Amino acid sequence: MNSISSTINHLCIIFIPCFQVFFFHFSFHFESKMALPILKGLLQDYVQSLLNEKIIDERFSQIRTKLEEPDFIQLINVYLNDVESRLSEFSCFIDSVDVNFSKLSMMAHKIEEKSTRIGARHMKLASIHLIQACDKEDHKLVSQSLCWMKHEFINTRNKLQPVLQMEQRILRLMSKQT
Ligand SMILES: *[C@@H]1O[C@H](CO)[C@@H](O)[C@H](O)[C@H]1NC(C)=O
Repeated sequence: MNSISSTINHLCIIFIPCFQVFFFHFSFHFESKMALPILKGLLQDYVQSLLNEKIIDERFSQIRTKLEEPDFIQLINVYLNDVESRLSEFSCFIDSVDVNFSKLSMMAHKIEEKSTRIGARHMKLASIHLIQACDKEDHKLVSQSLCWMKHEFINTRNKLQPVLQMEQRILRLMSKQT
């Protein structure tokens, strides 16, 4: 028993480094030749899952296929940063003594416009809700809608982050190939 296991140990000592060398070569080729179509397929599937969840709509997919990767990444990052700062601005205004509902409505319209433009469907729906609450001049409803929108924003951002990461990896692989 002991001699068998020591033989196995010896074999492992010989074979594992060979396997690692093999694996290194394999993964090197894999990275440079095969990874790109696989990664593109994974990204396509992931975007499809977001479409199925209705986090995004067709507009998002259209923009993604139409734009070059760096432009697409930038567009989404600009959108996320812009909405984040608008939401914190909104929170400040809602807490002020004299709440100006028409101003809040205008701010919600801006978020709706930007969300529609990139196809952030959940965000668009939350914006419409918020606009309606502002137009009713119902402070409690506005607070509730804002709370919902913040939740949707965090969810949307978390779901879009892998898209951006995969796009970055695709970019890196493409730059290695040329
Ligand atoms: C409320 O905001 C709107 C839009 O910014 C502005 O035109 C209006 O003068 C403001 N009303 C008050 C009372 O400040």
